[in-house]
Amino acid sequence: MDFTKKDWWKRAVIYQIYPKSFQDSDGDGIGDLPGIISRLDYLQKLGVDALWLCPVFASPQADNGYDISDYRAIDPMFGTMEDMRALIREAKARGIGILLDLVLNHTSDRHRWFREALKGRDNPFHDYYIWRDGEPGTPPNGMKATFGGPAWTWVPELGQYYFHQFAPQQPDLNWANPKVRQELYGVIRSWMAEGVAGFRLDVIDQVGKDPDLEVTANGPRLLEFLREMNRETFGGANLVTVGETWGANIERARQYSAPDGSIFSMVFQFEQMVLDQGPSKWEPRPMTLPALKKSIARWQQGLHGCGWNSLFWNNHDLPRIVSRWGDDGACRVQSAQALAVALHGLQGTPYIYQGEELGMTNAAYPLADLRDIESLNAYKDLRARGWSDAEAMAAIHRVGRDNARTPMQWSAGPNAGFTAGTPWMRINPNHTAVNAEAALADPGSVFYTYQKLIALRKTCPVFVEGDFTLLCPEDEQVFAYVRRGGGQALLAAVNLSGRPAAFPLPEEFSGAELLLATQGSPAPGALRPWEALLYCKKE
Ligand code: GLC
Repeated sequence: MDFTKKDWWKRAVIYQIYPKSFQDSDGDGIGDLPGIISRLDYLQKLGVDALWLCPVFASPQADNGYDISDYRAIDPMFGTMEDMRALIREAKARGIGILLDLVLNHTSDRHRWFREALKGRDNPFHDYYIWRDGEPGTPPNGMKATFGGPAWTWVPELGQYYFHQFAPQQPDLNWANPKVRQELYGVIRSWMAEGVAGFRLDVIDQVGKDPDLEVTANGPRLLEFLREMNRETFGGANLVTVGETWGANIERARQYSAPDGSIFSMVFQFEQMVLDQGPSKWEPRPMTLPALKKSIARWQQGLHGCGWNSLFWNNHDLPRIVSRWGDDGACRVQSAQALAVALHGLQGTPYIYQGEELGMTNAAYPLADLRDIESLNAYKDLRARGWSDAEAMAAIHRVGRDNARTPMQWSAGPNAGFTAGTPWMRINPNHTAVNAEAALADPGSVFYTYQKLIALRKTCPVFVEGDFTLLCPEDEQVFAYVRRGGGQALLAAVNLSGRPAAFPLPEEFSGAELLLATQGSPAPGALRPWEALLYCKKE
């Protein structure tokens, strides 16, 4: 990718790496930066333009790096600053940029700022965090932490509570304090000076919170803070910036990703990914394909020309898509390919989460093999609420974050080629069949569908520029849409079911070029189970 071109990220495909689970180089069982460097050729072959690394900064790892104790240091478990510089350099030599994951909403409770803050109310760092006076046992209000328990933790020495949206080990920073904001802007500028291609900003729509009003996302001063951050750091620098915004609606998303570049390049929102979620993430509700299509169509049309979206089925917080909305049994390959085509034909910047390009699946591990603080806490909470062991484990197996975090499956060999030591997390036993070596050797593999989709985005302008019209909105099996723009028209027709589906090719595409077909020559008037087609024609 030519990173000097304006808005280069609109043509880019981003690959997300969970460093702990990508590639170990030193046999300690934990993935690291030299490990990533050793796999750059593989990523270049796939064709991706940038790598988003989940946090690699110094951290006690209460939430696997989303609890940072020093924003300017690499955790020794991942390597050194020199390794990071080598990664940036080696990636750039292959036309690949590096995105760092900045967790600016909270720090670790081991961060120097928090340790100072604990020393007394008059310590200069005390006001870096959010405190309220109170009595033990009576928190300021009933707000709950995302990982279970109250969002307030009592510090007897101070006679105060501090606020944490996530675990108690992740105290929220007080963004209302201008000194905090300036510290963080300094951090961003120092990483810009290292030559990164951009940033992913963790739960960034929470930094304007007002805990007294019980408001976390989209708080009253949020836009002011985000615009200030932009002006003082990456604004005008031609970097890619991705705002993780769980709470964004379309109107908000237009502001966060406004084409004037005043906040971020793009939003990373979750409306589609929670459609099958009930009152909590552990309680499912039925989702229909028409509901999913309707939501995607609203966002496609709602941001066209006035905002920019991220396209993803997976990340480190979500279960594997092929197990979730595909078929991870007999039709694993076909359904992974169908889901890939359905997503990569849309407008926005596509993300591939490590192993998605292999069709990696969920892993139903027993409790003892789980590692995620969220799942471990949820198990206790659900049991305390009267769920049986089997019910709680079924919920965790369905949506737990560890599904995404099992080590990358490079080969059928020992530990899937991930480590020469003992992996920090169990390897999915299906690595003997599902692995990169096997995928690379098979022209019909999921890997090559992703490779083709990435290449098409680079050669056909309609992928980047086209608008969006949904076809057959009520169809329960077929996701089909037409996009027009850049002098082309694109038709995507995807059977997202395991049954044959009727699909008459729209008249105007009868002579069009077949760009991609996942199951050989198309059959007239129908789609095979999990079959996906892309047609393109000049306009
Ligand atoms: C984001 C991250 C998630 C983390 C949380 C707290 O949602 O993606 O992994 O646990 O923020 O930092």
